[in-house]
Amino acid sequence: MPVITLVNEGKTIEVTEGENLRKVLRKHGISPYLGKDNFLNCRGNGLCGTCRVEIVDGKGASPMTPLEEAALVGLAPFYARLVPKNVRLSCRIDVTQDMTVRTYPKVTLDWQRTKERLTLLIIWAFFGGTFLFVMFRLLYEIATGL
Ligand code: FES
Repeated sequence: MPVITLVNEGKTIEVTEGENLRKVLRKHGISPYLGKDNFLNCRGNGLCGTCRVEIVDGKGASPMTPLEEAALVGLAPFYARLVPKNVRLSCRIDVTQDMTVRTYPKVTLDWQRTKERLTLLIIWAFFGGTFLFVMFRLLYEIATGL
C-alpha cells in the first residue's frame, strides 16, 4: 500500500492504491483548502483550482491533464496564477505509489497573463455592449414603428 508523507503536518498516511489524494487528506482531517476556499470550492471536480498541493516527491502521482493545468492557472477570464511545475490539484491525483506532499503551496498572480485576459475581457465587453445597444435600439424602433 502506498504511503503519503505530509511535510507540513509531519504525518505519514497509508492509503489504498488508486485512492484520490483530496479524499485521503479530508478523511484524515486535513483540509487542502485555505480560508474561504474551505467553503467556496468545486467539491473535487477539478474546476476551481483551490485544492493545490506541492508534490515534493511525486512518483506516485497520476499524470497532469490539460484541464488540470488550466484550472491551476485559473479558468476565470480576468486573472491568471503563476503556478510552479510541481504544484498539482489534490482532487485530480490518484495515488499509485509513495509520495511526499506539502499542503498550502505559495502561488502568485501572473500579471502578464492577467493583463492579457483583462484586455480581452474589456474588448469583449465593449463590442458586446455595442452589439446589445444596437439590437435593442433596432427592436425598439421596430416595436414603436419609427
Ligand atoms: S476541489 Fe476544485 S479543483 Fe480540486
